[in-house]
Amino acid sequence: MATLPSERPFPSTRYYGSKRRLLGWIQESLSGLRFNSVLDAFGGTASVSLLFKQQGKKVHYNDLLCFNQFIGTALIENAHTLVTETDLQQVLTTPLPDPQQTIQQLYKGVFYLDEENRWLDDFIQKVFLLGDKYKQAILLAALFQACLSKRPFNLFHRANLNLRTRDVKRSFGNKKTWDRPFEELIRKFIREYNRAVYDNGKENRVVGGYNALDCPNGVDLVYLDPPYFHDHHSTGLNYQDYYGFLEGIANYRDWPELVAHTGRALPKVKENEGIKDFTSKETISAAMEKLIDRFQDNIIVLSYLDQGIPDPAAIVSLFRKYGKRVKLHRKQHQYALSPQTRQELLFVAR
Ligand SMILES: C[S@@+](CC[C@H](N)C(=O)[O-])C[C@H]1O[C@@H](n2cnc3c(N)ncnc32)[C@H](O)[C@@H]1O
Repeated sequence: MATLPSERPFPSTRYYGSKRRLLGWIQESLSGLRFNSVLDAFGGTASVSLLFKQQGKKVHYNDLLCFNQFIGTALIENAHTLVTETDLQQVLTTPLPDPQQTIQQLYKGVFYLDEENRWLDDFIQKVFLLGDKYKQAILLAALFQACLSKRPFNLFHRANLNLRTRDVKRSFGNKKTWDRPFEELIRKFIREYNRAVYDNGKENRVVGGYNALDCPNGVDLVYLDPPYFHDHHSTGLNYQDYYGFLEGIANYRDWPELVAHTGRALPKVKENEGIKDFTSKETISAAMEKLIDRFQDNIIVLSYLDQGIPDPAAIVSLFRKYGKRVKLHRKQHQYALSPQTRQELLFVAR
């Protein structure tokens, strides 16, 4: 488990673009800035929100995707609530009068084994019967991490259960973890989330599932960590595509209606329109400008990568167009799910 600069452990995660391993550098780059409140507009795993929370700031967390908002609720909004072994036992033994079998029906043979699908359908519905919003959020956040760790490449954009079940010699992945029971993994992640829960004396909150371009403001500093668009690719990172299964869990009851029947082996959860702003070559530069326009009165801190669209010089020009003074910090970084070393950029615009 990584440790934040203040020695408080941050829950482990396997999420594309997570800044967890860059928090020390981000903290250092922002030292000297004066602010009391912050909006993390593309919050993801809430790692940067948690850094700000630990610095005693009032934190507003946002992410377009619903499953991430549960993580924000568990870690950022939640100041005191933990999930105990008794809570977990209570959830596991709750009777389910009329169970839905969404995963068993829609995802048979896609991501997990039949008995795991049955366990998931059962567990998720029981979690949603819980009365306590924060316990529910921790249990779901732990479940998401368990689901990710049992997936080859930690993603859900390919129907490739066979990568796990085939009896072959492997040069990648962690078959041992893929085969660990959900219940065992969830216990481990509950412990990690519990350890990160604390009160910083501020009313931190999840503002919702806004498109960052329309996100409510009212803070001193806005941290922007949009999906990256590589200049050699025709489309950007589509988080809804990568993590659609978790989005389905977060919307369990409506999941069957949310699935677009594309006739393919892999059911896809219908796309949220806002996701396209950062995944299409036609819209990415305009979306970046809209972001800067929207938050021009705030201190803006923007994370991006080199070799992206727009490129660093274009981003600096955009900031200047809105009258901002910009400092650009750079760091070589190797992302967990990528073989290449990339240059991580942090624009601090005042
Ligand atoms: C690079 S990740 C953020 C990672 C985060 N800072 C962390 O450390 O985990 C980008 C996030 O933006 C979210 N997202 C994508 N399009 C969005 C939009 N239009 N508005 C708000 N969030 C969006 C994705 O769900 C994803 O979690």
